[in-house]
Amino acid sequence: MAQALIEEKTIGARHTPVLLSQTLEALAPRARGRYLDGTLGLGGHCEALLSAAQDIEICGLDRDSDALALARERLAPFGQRVRFFHSRYSRFADALQELGWDKVDGALLDIGVSSLQLDESERGFSFLGDGLLDMRMDQRSDDLSARHWVNRASFASLKECIAALGEDPQAGRIARVIVDARQKKPITSTAELASLVEKAYPPAWRRTSRRHPATRTFQALRMAVNDELGELRRFLQHILAYLPVGGRLAVITFHSLEDRLVKQAIRRWTEGCRCPRHAAACVCGHQPEVRVLHKKPLQAAAAELASNPRAGSAKLRAVEKIAEAMPRANETA
Ligand SMILES: C[S@@+](CC[C@H](N)C(=O)[O-])C[C@H]1O[C@@H](n2cnc3c(N)ncnc32)[C@H](O)[C@@H]1O
Repeated sequence: MAQALIEEKTIGARHTPVLLSQTLEALAPRARGRYLDGTLGLGGHCEALLSAAQDIEICGLDRDSDALALARERLAPFGQRVRFFHSRYSRFADALQELGWDKVDGALLDIGVSSLQLDESERGFSFLGDGLLDMRMDQRSDDLSARHWVNRASFASLKECIAALGEDPQAGRIARVIVDARQKKPITSTAELASLVEKAYPPAWRRTSRRHPATRTFQALRMAVNDELGELRRFLQHILAYLPVGGRLAVITFHSLEDRLVKQAIRRWTEGCRCPRHAAACVCGHQPEVRVLHKKPLQAAAAELASNPRAGSAKLRAVEKIAEAMPRANETA
């Protein structure tokens, strides 16, 4: 399938990365620098980084082998300057170790689903076409598919998943309709699930909703199937140790819960003294590890939105490392 898409059109012509100029500005790529792109996708940001400064090298990861094949094709002109890893980004340290890199000058995540994944109905991400309910970004993994979730999860877990990750106020009704339907026969296709969710919506909501009623349920299942929040949490726990002072991190999110995780991590990294308020003097010696590059997250301007409505929910947050973490008190003793 990936090959068919390559032949249809060049990848660069069919795909424009979101918030591209803002991302380049945030990462401020340096000549001969080493960078990590944890979500290569179709290689758009990576291509721009490689072209932005001389002799940059990139360690590029994607858990989707179809995306990786397309990125390889697009980035072939850069030869050995890009190294490709079929891996989830929470395991970035293994890839760096394989390359013998102990630090990178910058790291980028552009999280979420790619247009390639959404456009191919057989991947089961979209309710617009009809395909087998799958939604695994890595189809070679042992991750449980959306089919498994929908047919096996309890009513309570389905409701919680759709409420928490989809933020759908109709989560209870949707979970009930799913559980009732699967008692008659397993739910296996995207169209089947979309029509069940539509039925679960009260008619007045169906009429007034600007989005397809299944939008949030599909988003929730995709995030659960791929443990998207867990991936981001694990990445944020470790990435700072791999940046030198002056190194930069840029993260683009499309979901409020993901943005919240990034915001919370940045808040921790910018914290100063952690001594109790009543302490006469600072004994912890803790100092901020990063400086925040923009007070508010960057979002797409009107011109980008006109050509790519999906950029509407994208938020970019970026930081520069300014100090190494202080060892914890019990580590210095
Ligand atoms: C929005 S696209 C990235 C687009 C890319 N920046 C570009 O310019 O083409 C997101 C990509 O991240 C990948 N992805 C999502 N979560 C991932 C994870 N935890 N580990 C590795 N790749 C992941 C998806 O498979 C998808 O290809």
